[in-house]
Amino acid sequence: MNTLEYGLNICILGAGAIGSLWACYLNNAGRTVSLWTRGSESSLSLSLDDQPAILFPCNQESQLANADLLIVTVKAWQVQSAFKPILSQLKADCSILFSHNGMGAVETILPQMSEHPVFFATTTHGALRKNQQQVLHTGQGQTIIGPLNDKAEVELGSLVQAFNLALPPAHADSNIYQALWNKIAINCCINPLTALRDCRNGELAAKDTLEIIETLCSEISAVITAEGFSCNNAELFARTKQVIEATSKNFSSMHQDIHHNRPTEINYITGYLLERARAHNIDTPMNKNLFEQIKQKEAQNDH
Ligand code: PAF
Repeated sequence: MNTLEYGLNICILGAGAIGSLWACYLNNAGRTVSLWTRGSESSLSLSLDDQPAILFPCNQESQLANADLLIVTVKAWQVQSAFKPILSQLKADCSILFSHNGMGAVETILPQMSEHPVFFATTTHGALRKNQQQVLHTGQGQTIIGPLNDKAEVELGSLVQAFNLALPPAHADSNIYQALWNKIAINCCINPLTALRDCRNGELAAKDTLEIIETLCSEISAVITAEGFSCNNAELFARTKQVIEATSKNFSSMHQDIHHNRPTEINYITGYLLERARAHNIDTPMNKNLFEQIKQKEAQNDH
């Protein structure tokens, strides 16, 4: 497959904010993009910011069967139920790219995808699905893409180039798990606290809350280090404070999930951290406490 041909046909599973953003930019870069949703609609009209609407084919088995690349942007807790039924419909060399908050959702199904190049992407682009017809690109960010299996190593450069042509900058990172731990560490600090306190990210900058975050950071860095990845306690704390400041006006994704009565990603964020902490016999009482409080909130919510 040469570079120009790579990913010519792209199907996106999960037309949320990031899925819709990538759908529009990849379409504008000349790719043939279709969507796969929970619904039964055969097309979906979407506009990026104030641009003219694009009509995407939707839920069409022929598009799925022809896809060179499947992008899975559903939430971590939806990955297994949304992805497993369509896996057998993909052609053998179709690449699969997952992107969601948290860790632990893909590892268990990775052996079932051994025929395919499998990747993970983490992005800091801001996107908001304003309504059914419009997605807003609310913040310029970057995308890091890494391989999850050997087959993906070979294709990594072409996939990153396809993203760079559509929505730059995109970078290849062969050590994608380090990038994912860096992200999950910040999410463990910001997401549960904002959801429990019903506040914007910026309100976590209060002195007493920063003391809690410092304790969270020392627990988190102990687990990440035990996992064999690099994480310095003081650096993590400094980075978390930077993200709190840079996103001060935002409501975190977990805050929004609790607010809208939806299941959260806690099992794949703090829950994953606790699971790895248990495997290394590391005490993480502050993270455990936040995890339990979020589980209680979720139980009170009527999904
Ligand atoms: O999940 C989120 O909301 C974001 O990853 C972050 C960085 C915490 C900002 O809100």
